[in-house]
Amino acid sequence: MNRTESFAGEALQVVRGARSGVAIAVAVHSTERGPAIGGCRIKPYPSWRDGADDALRLSAAMTVKCALAGLPYGGGKTVAALPPEGIGKARRPELIADIADAISALGGRYRTGPDIGSSSEDMAVIHRLAHGWAFCRPPDQGGSGTSSAATARGVLAALQAGVAPGSVAGLRVGVIGFGSVGRLICEALIERGAEVVVTDVDSGLRPVAERLGATWTTADLLREPLDVLVPAATGGLLTVESAAACGAGLIVGPANNQLADEKAETVLRDRGITWIPDVVASAGGIIHAVGREELGMDETAANAKIDAIADTVSAVLALARERGLPMSRAAREYAAR
Ligand SMILES: NC(=O)c1ccc[n+]([C@@H]2O[C@H](COP(=O)([O-])OP(=O)(O)OC[C@H]3O[C@@H](n4cnc5c(N)ncnc54)[C@H](O)[C@@H]3O)[C@@H](O)[C@H]2O)c1
Repeated sequence: MNRTESFAGEALQVVRGARSGVAIAVAVHSTERGPAIGGCRIKPYPSWRDGADDALRLSAAMTVKCALAGLPYGGGKTVAALPPEGIGKARRPELIADIADAISALGGRYRTGPDIGSSSEDMAVIHRLAHGWAFCRPPDQGGSGTSSAATARGVLAALQAGVAPGSVAGLRVGVIGFGSVGRLICEALIERGAEVVVTDVDSGLRPVAERLGATWTTADLLREPLDVLVPAATGGLLTVESAAACGAGLIVGPANNQLADEKAETVLRDRGITWIPDVVASAGGIIHAVGREELGMDETAANAKIDAIADTVSAVLALARERGLPMSRAAREYAAR
């Protein structure tokens, strides 16, 4: 972090968990529109400072995501920065209790949900220990459950808007990451007549993908000729180099923080490749969670709000074209409105 830069968020709380000894950073980027919300990431980091940096960066993206989705919330994020060797399974309950304490200490300014390394079951514990300030508990424990299906639905709405007025039937779509969201996206695209090519570092998933009707590849899909590329694994895949080699016409997917370097977006634009920022495309899960658990929406209303991601994509695309803006800037300006 540049130590002279001004602090753009509202609060950053870093505590050493009393039971687990793990550094827990909770960043509250904004509560201007309502309580800050954002997932709880539990993973090894080289140092607690890297974890705190990640919490700050991800909380800022959540503010934009909530505003773009028209939700009365701001952005926040929890990062539990594990030591490089991780912590044993036996100590995990201590860590979850420490995370609940860290969230309680913020007095309701921030609510959490599942993210990398945390589950719906963890949210049930945090919900119980931290005044209900956790989303996505399992449905049999009163929550809205995993958000994967809602996230996949939102990505499909964004993808459809990106290829409009055409249909996805007959398009060649590459999906990077055959996890819980990627799998559902593959399934829906195949049902709609797209030709789907998929890759995942876990080759054990190959038979499942092939049973769905997808073609498995070990090639770098970023470089393959595709109509649409769906990043559904990890973020940071769009660098200047990968943007220069990218063979897709449209990039849209759920992976968080896809842009590793802002210059990559200029390269994509100059090459006529449309990138739909993840803050727009990946909002389905959060819309479903808060819609069902706090905003009084039934399943139909929540789905309608998720499908409206298509309208946001069209509006951001129009703003970017009209003003000659990169998509990330157009998304931020649209959110600020
Ligand atoms: N689940 C949600 O509701 C949700 C919401 C918003 C954003 N996201 C983001 O979407 C992405 C996918 O989420 P998910 O819940 O499906 O995660 P997941 O962990 O279920 O799946 C990710 C998959 O990507 C694979 N993978 C990891 N690195 C890879 C690489 N370099 N190349 C190819 N495959 C790789 C993993 O093996 C795994 O199968 C993540 O970036 C996540 O943060 C998810």
